Amino acid sequence: MEKTFLMVKPDGVQRNLIGDITARFERKGFKLAGAKLMAIPTELAEEHYGEHKEKPFFGELVDFITSGPVFAMVWEGEDVIATARTMMGATKPAEAAPGTIRGDYGVTVGKNVIHGSDSKESAEREIGLFFDEKELVDYEKDSLNWIY
Ligand code: GTP
Ligand code: MG
Repeated sequence: MEKTFLMVKPDGVQRNLIGDITARFERKGFKLAGAKLMAIPTELAEEHYGEHKEKPFFGELVDFITSGPVFAMVWEGEDVIATARTMMGATKPAEAAPGTIRGDYGVTVGKNVIHGSDSKESAEREIGLFFDEKELVDYEKDSLNWIY
């Protein structure tokens, strides 16, 4: 089954949104495969956001994501990569629909509460960057028979 990497950013952790965000993906019907609270080392932040290296906001982005703990997660399910992006809402909170995570909680593009992989390739890359294989749990969940 498809997996994606999601992360409550430092603003979301400080604003007590870990529970709410996790609950949304649980209620939707996705399966949690791994999760941890962690401080991101600068080198990992630079590698994770490598695609933005040339952008003017790169330094700000790395400073922000390393400014406090994040809650890193791997979620599993059919089309979870695209569906999680829909649930997160647009990058700019002003453009994010109400009901989405960024639409409900974000105000500025820099502090937009959550990160989510944007493709199969980035999901694979980001899961590998943040998690050891043995940190991911493969298990049965009976409730999934009522979702699929
Ligand atoms: P992520 O899930 O965090 O990767 O967001 P995204 O895929 O919706 O957006 P993108 O990958 O294009 O940008 C990564 C992150 O950089 C965004 O989530 C924003 O937090 C931040 N960002 C994007 N544009 C700007 C900007 O103009 N200024 C600042 N400060 N941050 C920006
Ligand atoms: Mg992105």
